[in-house]
Amino acid sequence: MHESISPDDEAILRIGEVVEVSGRKIFVAVDKEKNVSDLIFNGDILKNISVNSYVEIRKGFLSLIGKVDGEKVIDDSQAASWSGYENRDKNKRVLTISLSGYISKSNKFIGGLKEMPLIGSEAYLLTSAKLHTVHNLVSDKSLSINIAKTDADDYDIGFPIDGLFNSHIAIFGNTGSGKSNTLAYLYQELVSALKLRNQEAFEENSRFLLFDFNGEYIGHECITADKKVYNLSTRVVGGDRIPISEDSLMDLEVLSILADATDKTQKPFIRRALRFYKDVTGSADPLNYFQNTLKSKIKQTLQMSDKVRAYLLVDYFKQLLPETDAAGHIVEIDDDLDWHNVSSEFMRQPGPHFLSSTPAEIENTFMYQRVDQYELQNDLLSMFIHFLYIQLIFDVISNRAQNEHIAPAINKLRSKKSDIDKVFDTTGAESIWESNFVVVNLNDVNLEMKKTIPLLLSKRLYIDHKSEGNEKSLNFIIDEAHNILSRDSFREAESWKDYRLETFEEIIKEGRKFGVFVTISSQRPSDISPTLTSQAHNYFIHRLINQKDLAMISSVVSYIDRVTEESIPVLPTGACIFSGVASPMPLKLNVKELDLHLQPNSTTLAYKDIVPEVAI
Ligand SMILES: Nc1ncnc2c1ncn2[C@@H]1O[C@H](COP(=O)(O)OP(=O)(O)OP(=O)(O)O)[C@@H](O)[C@H]1O
Ligand SMILES: [Mg+2]
Repeated sequence: MHESISPDDEAILRIGEVVEVSGRKIFVAVDKEKNVSDLIFNGDILKNISVNSYVEIRKGFLSLIGKVDGEKVIDDSQAASWSGYENRDKNKRVLTISLSGYISKSNKFIGGLKEMPLIGSEAYLLTSAKLHTVHNLVSDKSLSINIAKTDADDYDIGFPIDGLFNSHIAIFGNTGSGKSNTLAYLYQELVSALKLRNQEAFEENSRFLLFDFNGEYIGHECITADKKVYNLSTRVVGGDRIPISEDSLMDLEVLSILADATDKTQKPFIRRALRFYKDVTGSADPLNYFQNTLKSKIKQTLQMSDKVRAYLLVDYFKQLLPETDAAGHIVEIDDDLDWHNVSSEFMRQPGPHFLSSTPAEIENTFMYQRVDQYELQNDLLSMFIHFLYIQLIFDVISNRAQNEHIAPAINKLRSKKSDIDKVFDTTGAESIWESNFVVVNLNDVNLEMKKTIPLLLSKRLYIDHKSEGNEKSLNFIIDEAHNILSRDSFREAESWKDYRLETFEEIIKEGRKFGVFVTISSQRPSDISPTLTSQAHNYFIHRLINQKDLAMISSVVSYIDRVTEESIPVLPTGACIFSGVASPMPLKLNVKELDLHLQPNSTTLAYKDIVPEVAI
């Protein structure tokens, strides 16, 4: 709605006129009588123009909106004509203004430059109705949520749900600046707005997965009471376990992640082993198939003339074959073997029987006979580890792979096996989506699994989601994202870290098209891969002090004006700068504080509570 303002009122609102235009910067000389701090307008007290307030510059019928960046006083004695002894104030107050946008014919604020003002264009204070227009991010009927007020004028800011949540969101700020509160508030409001609109469709079509590194969001009412929390633990047995089906686990990507497999050699190796696994398990008699394969490989091994490789293979067989013989005695499988250095072959003792010259003797070795005791392992991962060994035996015999390149992947999988057993449930085929809002609590999980679990789940669910068509949405919410998305973690192999970052980069770069959106929150934005930080569409920037972080912010956040940027290191808790596609210009906001029972469990402790006063 357009206000009708009388010419008299216009005169009150007028503050001066443009005296210089240079690039995006506009200079406005303030009328002498407007150098007061407040003005009375229609019975309201209006704050007069000052740094950080908005101005309207009229050019014909166009209303350009700018923000005051600074002000200065210049001496205008030259412009004044000398008129004797007149006692005249020669100072002139000049405002520096950067243009942020304009108000369109349909009375909407549009960000960006359309036209520049001319010298002499008049500048006005914004009436409250115009201020509303400038701060209105929501078009008439669209869904919106309200979590904050503007810093300057205390207006409630409505965020459009479409525009904010169907985009990648980044929340940055130092520790204790209010990120978790903002994140929880955002999603709490989203969930309740969507539920109100259509609970069935909400639960059916939209999914949320929150990675919670510190166990902050597990409170009953935090975000939503209808969430499913997985409290994982690698420390104790008996924590929750994330269901993962056989198909999901026996998948190249998942196994490669679990084994920290490198792309060049280890992943193709796992692929070969997986193919063999599927052949065997798909056959009519898997055990027989596996045993026959073992026997044939033992025959090949025991006829080899390369001692080093032969013993290496014997070691691998030791990993596979049972430790005890048919009578239940522990007997090493190579106890009856010796190496004959002159003829370079194995011999079976007592005898000796030369195995390469008389291969029929091989069937009498402990090793060969032990195969009949072999049973397939009953848990998936142990079984697959055996398939990896047999694949390695294949590859070493055929000179296909270098053992030292492959063995680390198997060892990794073996060392992680007990952790994996503690956090994943491979028995049932139920889905992780017991509710459409899932919180994965990683607080009690060791460092390695803290990195592995989010990667594995994200990759798996992303692939599943892509195959389901694009009518549904999936939001990954990663609080404390530096835990997994940092470029500078030195504790792990470079290739593995790259793989993890690339996975999330892929999701953030192309997920949008499939309805997959990412929300990241972090204390050290400069640590996070720039591909990730720069692809976010909407930023909530809380207090940040480190120069590197600030430099990163100014490089990825567009249109942030100097005054706003300079205020970032001194923002109070809960205040933030919002910038992004949902708003035509950066806004300084105060996020409201959640009620205590809805807050994430991240409250700063107070000494007055830690050491309570003693009642006298
Ligand atoms: N909008 C707000 N208004 C008032 N107080 C707030 C607001 N947001 C957060 N706080 C308070 O500030 C403290 C820290 O908040 P929060 O846990 O959200 O910070 P954080 O940025 O997530 O910190 P960290 O990086 O350590 O996780 C809490 O005690 C919380 O109650
Ligand atoms: Mg936090």
